[in-house]
Amino acid sequence: MSTTARLDKLLGGMGYGSRREIEHWAYAERITLDGEPITDSSQRLAITPDLQTRLMVDGIVLDPLPNMVIMLHKPLGTTCSHKESGPLIYDLLPTRWKRRDPQLSSIGRLDKETSGLLLLTDDGALLHKVISPKHHVPKRYLATLARPLRDDAAALFASGTLMLEGEDKPLLPAELEVLSPTTARVTLHEGRYHQVRRMFAAIGNHVDALHRESVGGLILPADLKAGEYRVLNADDIARIFANANAA
Ligand code: URA
Repeated sequence: MSTTARLDKLLGGMGYGSRREIEHWAYAERITLDGEPITDSSQRLAITPDLQTRLMVDGIVLDPLPNMVIMLHKPLGTTCSHKESGPLIYDLLPTRWKRRDPQLSSIGRLDKETSGLLLLTDDGALLHKVISPKHHVPKRYLATLARPLRDDAAALFASGTLMLEGEDKPLLPAELEVLSPTTARVTLHEGRYHQVRRMFAAIGNHVDALHRESVGGLILPADLKAGEYRVLNADDIARIFANANAA
């Protein structure tokens, strides 16, 4: 079963222009489907994945269709916000995407001084599924620490009793893999504010650098440089949930 949408509504929601502008472009034969002009902007189109390459504006294939998911290699110093001052993650994406409706939002946040894998989507249900602890999507981080790790660090993180300052509910057990006295991988199963930094603070250490390596079974590819992004396909999206067990 495929859904349909009016051409002007579809392109308008993807940030191409106003309904009026799209009407003019159609009239001027600037919009084509399988190479044939669509001159009536109210025409309904079946929304299928291949529509993105069959429908063109000025001979250029469309941006990703609604329900898009992208991975961004978030660089240090960028903020996950639509409106704060300073460099924003959204500035790294095509300008037209800022006008999309529904809006493209990050799936959870990484703090300004954290780099690594950040997912963004316009699909609210998917966003919820990735961030809700109920769906067990683990997030893995690489942390560089100011001081050597204490011997019981992994046991404390795994205990299910570790408390963060200012909170009254213990953390879910988390895995700590010690790589060197001052570097470690941490895998979380929930997402509290500045959680990794606050967990190390809770055991008397300090995070100097933090990088997210993976979300579920989806790993940040080595060839995706800081500041670059990639549109995910269905296999990539399935990989997010690949490690998610129903425990
Ligand atoms: N934990 C942090 O402290 N910061 C992040 O950005 C993500 C997890």
